[in-house]
Amino acid sequence: MTTQKFKPPAKGPSWLVIQLLERCNLRCTMCYEWGENGSYLELSKLAELDEDLLLNTLKESLPARPYVEFFGGEPLLYKGIWKAMDLLREGGCQLVFPTNGTTLRSHADRLVTDSPTRIWVSLDGPEEINDRQRGRGVYQKAMRGIEEVSEQKRRTGLRYPELGITFLITPDNYLTIEQFFRDVDLSHLGAISVELQSYATPEMHRHYSLVAHDVFGVTSTPHAASYVRDPKIFADVDVDELVRQLLAVRKLCEANNVRFWTRPETVDTGTIAAYLAADWSKMNDFHQRCAIPWRYAEISARGEVTTCHTFYDITIGNIHEQSLLEIWQGDRAKKVRDHVRKELFPICPTCSRFYSLGAHPVGPQG
Ligand SMILES: C[S@@+](CC[C@H](N)C(=O)[O-])C[C@H]1O[C@@H](n2cnc3c(N)ncnc32)[C@H](O)[C@@H]1O
Ligand code: SF4
Repeated sequence: MTTQKFKPPAKGPSWLVIQLLERCNLRCTMCYEWGENGSYLELSKLAELDEDLLLNTLKESLPARPYVEFFGGEPLLYKGIWKAMDLLREGGCQLVFPTNGTTLRSHADRLVTDSPTRIWVSLDGPEEINDRQRGRGVYQKAMRGIEEVSEQKRRTGLRYPELGITFLITPDNYLTIEQFFRDVDLSHLGAISVELQSYATPEMHRHYSLVAHDVFGVTSTPHAASYVRDPKIFADVDVDELVRQLLAVRKLCEANNVRFWTRPETVDTGTIAAYLAADWSKMNDFHQRCAIPWRYAEISARGEVTTCHTFYDITIGNIHEQSLLEIWQGDRAKKVRDHVRKELFPICPTCSRFYSLGAHPVGPQG
């Protein structure tokens, strides 16, 4: 792929991700925000986007009709989510967001009335496995939430939000993928996304920190650091069995008219084994370039804007100081694009967006 002829759209990003807040009511073990290595554990004060600033930024973005995703922390804990949802619906934008599902049931009514395009409920296995990874009682709450939203849709005859389950594969749950989806009532779901845990090697992180410092003057990279894992944690994964399970779920989805996505997209032993061994360039889905910074902006709960997902270390501006459009067209954004035009960041293979490149945005892509 060449990014040579790409120009960022003058009206602003066509794919906009907004982290509404950093706060979360769970502490999922693998989470790069709140998990064992999570970068948010160190924060003394948690940020939340100012509601007026959020609404003004969304209004400014509407002419580009972006595909919008909310992010967290836990998006459904953000009080201003409903006004933002209304604004985007009236502006004709698609809105998708992930949730841990713990408050889904109590919000079901409003979610069906306000009709975001899709909600991804994060569930990582049968009850015992899910709750070991995500917290006690979470499975039941999320399942009751799915049922309630589905029931409200049936009662009202409304079609949205479409419900999806996103399943994050870790060494602890990969043997339960098929059984989990065989036990779920697929009639509630429009989509399933099964994604390999994102991680970076210590060496990638070191290399990234050098680039961040030498090229962009960034002195610390805690967000990228929270992804660091030793690939040895995947050493015992039976890749053939993992591939078999993924293909079985794909078949199950086809038979039940449920869309199915995986990350990476290619499900074969070579690609999955390469991913788990940090041998990224051997993956079928590896690319030499990334086009995301030309179409994508992400705003953190602190107002910082980046062109990459969750790597809030190399920022291109802050909406507390400039408008999103000014930032999007500014020198710092240009500098990032110029860099990515020449070479990837060392951390790029860790990023979920890297695997959906120019394609349509898919899963919640943690
Ligand atoms: C960070 S959470 C924020 C939204 C919400 N709290 C939730 O859990 O859905 C967004 C998604 O990232 C996923 N995620 C967490 N840790 C991850 C990791 N290390 N690699 C890839 N995805 C991860 C979660 O499972 C979830 O689906
Ligand atoms: S994955 Fe989501 S629910 Fe779990 S700790 Fe991270 S942000 Fe919270």
